[in-house]
Amino acid sequence: MSSVKPVAGAGRFALYRDPQPARVASFADDVRTGLGMRPYTLMPKYFYDDLGSALFEAITHLPEYYLTRIERDLLATYAPDIVAAFGEPLELLELGSGSATKTRLIIDAILAGQDTLTFHPIDISPDALIESSEALVASNDALHVRAYAGDYFGLLRAKRIETRDRVLALYLGSNVGNFEPVQARELFGLLGATLKTGDGLLIGYDLKKDASVLELAYDDPTGVTAAFNKNLLARINRELGGDFDLRDFSFFAKYDERDGVVRSHLRAGRALTAHIPGAGIDVSFEAGETIHMESSYKFTREDMLAVVAPFGFAERRTFSDAAGRYALSLFIRS
Ligand code: SAH
Ligand code: AVI
Repeated sequence: MSSVKPVAGAGRFALYRDPQPARVASFADDVRTGLGMRPYTLMPKYFYDDLGSALFEAITHLPEYYLTRIERDLLATYAPDIVAAFGEPLELLELGSGSATKTRLIIDAILAGQDTLTFHPIDISPDALIESSEALVASNDALHVRAYAGDYFGLLRAKRIETRDRVLALYLGSNVGNFEPVQARELFGLLGATLKTGDGLLIGYDLKKDASVLELAYDDPTGVTAAFNKNLLARINRELGGDFDLRDFSFFAKYDERDGVVRSHLRAGRALTAHIPGAGIDVSFEAGETIHMESSYKFTREDMLAVVAPFGFAERRTFSDAAGRYALSLFIRS
């Protein structure tokens, strides 16, 4: 990465862009592919434009969406223990850092034991990345941020992340749950190849539980999660010239207990055809036909250990709340 010049940032903050230059073309390609198959499917990584990131932030404040709150409490309690598992100096990497609010707890714990810290956040949303990075360096003189705007699959595959010291990688917020098992395995393969022996990986994930609790967390009565999903149709309208009328669609989320996954959908209330010139397609819906918007997988601790073990990650410790709703597992790359 040292041969690539940062595109923005100054002083202790540098921003690097995705190696894949045509972001708009890839959005159009993925929309064409996803709405060219049945059932219709869109990729949740496209939720996070400027408005989508703000709507996700609002979700984290909903009383029904307990995930963020419990993860923050676990980090507030255990960050010193997590950091103490490593020698100094430590560098920090984060996949899907978003607002990086909870990351501050780990940053503070690391800086309690060393003079400076380099933080490498990766996020597909440049707005969230720039805003959070600027806030972090402004509030902490000892912090250097090398931020990467792009899809972490592409960035890890292209070996764009350059670290020197012992690395602690964070994968928080149950982000891992948004990938189908085959994609999650690909990601941990990439992480296994990126991290060195002795490096750490901290994964935050939502634990399997009662369907009623999960369905309320993913279909809140305020309607913020519905708006978060509908914003992806609005983004298709804004960026690809689509003509979806958002009022034609309703939102629902259903927990599939057998596969341990909440699947979120938009359903067309009437027969209609949407035109998306930027993707070169017209898409017809029958009344009641759905678009699969997102999967949010749930795990047991044993599930998570089994997912990462083939890629050289051995459990050091797992932390969870007293009610067993959410867990943080710390792994060491062997
Ligand atoms: N880690 C934060 C944010 C979670 S929301 C938290 O725990 O609250 C998911 C974040 O991952 C968003 O900021 C989104 O922009 C980012 N993201 C989702 N898919 C991504 C991908 N494939 N590559 C990079 N970032 C991604
Ligand atoms: C970011 N991701 C882990 C969230 C989740 O829980 O699947 C996104 C989200 N979707 C609806 N609410 C929150």
